[in-house]
Amino acid sequence: MSERVLIFDTTLRDGEQSPGASMNQQEKMQIARQLERLGVDIIEAGFPASSEGDREAVAAIAKEIKKARIVGLARSNALDIDTAWKAVEGAEKPGIHTFIATSEIHMSHKLRMSPQEVIDLAGEAVRLARSYSDWVEFSCEDATRSDPAFMCQVIQAAMDEGACTINIPDTVGYAYPDEMADLVKHVRANVRGIENVILSVHCHNDLGLAVANSLAGIRAGARQVECTINGIGERAGNAALEEIAMILKTRREALPFHSGIVTKEIFHTSRLVSSITGVSVQPNKAVVGSNAFAHEAGIHQHGIIQERSTYEIMDPESIGMGKSSLVLGKHSGRHAFGERVKALGYTLSDGEIDRAFRRFKNVADNKKTVFDEDIEAIIADEILRIAETYKLLSLTVMSGSDVVPTATVRMEIEGAEYHGAELGNGPVDAAYNAIMKLTGRKPTLRRFSISAITGGTDALGEVSIQLEEDGNVAHGQGSHEDIIVASAKAMVNALNRLHYMAGRPRTKATL
Ligand code: KIV
Ligand code: ZN
Repeated sequence: MSERVLIFDTTLRDGEQSPGASMNQQEKMQIARQLERLGVDIIEAGFPASSEGDREAVAAIAKEIKKARIVGLARSNALDIDTAWKAVEGAEKPGIHTFIATSEIHMSHKLRMSPQEVIDLAGEAVRLARSYSDWVEFSCEDATRSDPAFMCQVIQAAMDEGACTINIPDTVGYAYPDEMADLVKHVRANVRGIENVILSVHCHNDLGLAVANSLAGIRAGARQVECTINGIGERAGNAALEEIAMILKTRREALPFHSGIVTKEIFHTSRLVSSITGVSVQPNKAVVGSNAFAHEAGIHQHGIIQERSTYEIMDPESIGMGKSSLVLGKHSGRHAFGERVKALGYTLSDGEIDRAFRRFKNVADNKKTVFDEDIEAIIADEILRIAETYKLLSLTVMSGSDVVPTATVRMEIEGAEYHGAELGNGPVDAAYNAIMKLTGRKPTLRRFSISAITGGTDALGEVSIQLEEDGNVAHGQGSHEDIIVASAKAMVNALNRLHYMAGRPRTKATL
């Protein structure tokens, strides 16, 4: 008989730790709503003690989401646990996830604690968390580089205080599948009462083994897997939720496990997360990459035409990838537009749909067909904007083969209007120089990418950038029919995010 594996999604916590992927409250809320539609069991909505913004976002998600359990992360100290509880207590199904490192490397260099101190703190943390919540998960950070016997002592302390889920993270993505399986088996064989709790695995992808290690953990007895949409997360990321869900569905005969994931929601969830975080999905990414169902070789195309299963093990429609993404045009009404927005995974208020629809009409006037990707860009641009300290009012650029590129920019900065002109190596450079001059900011541009959202010269251009300033990394996105305007919008969007982050510092302490 097939056994259920719980899906613990940490896109909003570990996923947000991808460089530049930090999200504002509204963006996190959109993702949380879609995760609930996707059918995840648990949403780790954030790390409330890390910043005031994160605490507020977790509390807002806890208030609204009803079906999934909403969990906040906390280190093993009273302040973190109190803060996590205050953030999640309004949830229908709240939970606290507390952790402490158990490897010799982490204990001596990071925590500077003795093994006994770690055992004591783990027990105390779980006891405090349990005084608030019936649902408490305990994790041994860096489990795969820990002494298994010692780790079992720490787990025992956490369980004796009432932890109901025990998580074994491969924090640095170091393990290989057999090792992960052996570790799970070791815990099952050596901790008293382990059969009464849910064992969980949380694997990072530094060696590209996060999904394989998660499956090995499941086969060895874990019944919860921690993962993120598109595999985003710290460094090389976490195990990809969509891959785990599709492996369980596609290889049912080999793996007698199932999840509650509504696989038809996978594609939209993936797009929503990449559009909001600015972390794009590589074309050859399993399950959700743009090439995942593309057949290039003639021999493959021939096979597919004869019989799909020759070269396709999954049906693209099973992950919600429609036959065609061409949906709307200039004659489409507000109702059809609103329905499409909903189908794409967004939950917008009437006023927000009105605003997005006005922009859609402008785009549709200039472009024969408006694709899903255009609609996503419109929503990112019009609705999911962070509070705008800086607003781009207008941009005029002169460029060509025989002139020095010049940009004239008009901006509103904290309510007052400014304008200025600058030269540059190209039109984008000139526009960026003018924006920097007006705002007085000096971030480093770490990434700049430009793409036509859909085919054709009339397509919306989408620009995605990453900036770094004073240790904060922020992404920015902008879309427009004119790619220079799109570039300027992306810059202003990223500057607003940097401004927001600077006003909401994260705690100095690391995980
Ligand atoms: O990777 C890790 O160890 C973590 C813990 C906080 C569970 O993210
Ligand atoms: Zn992690």
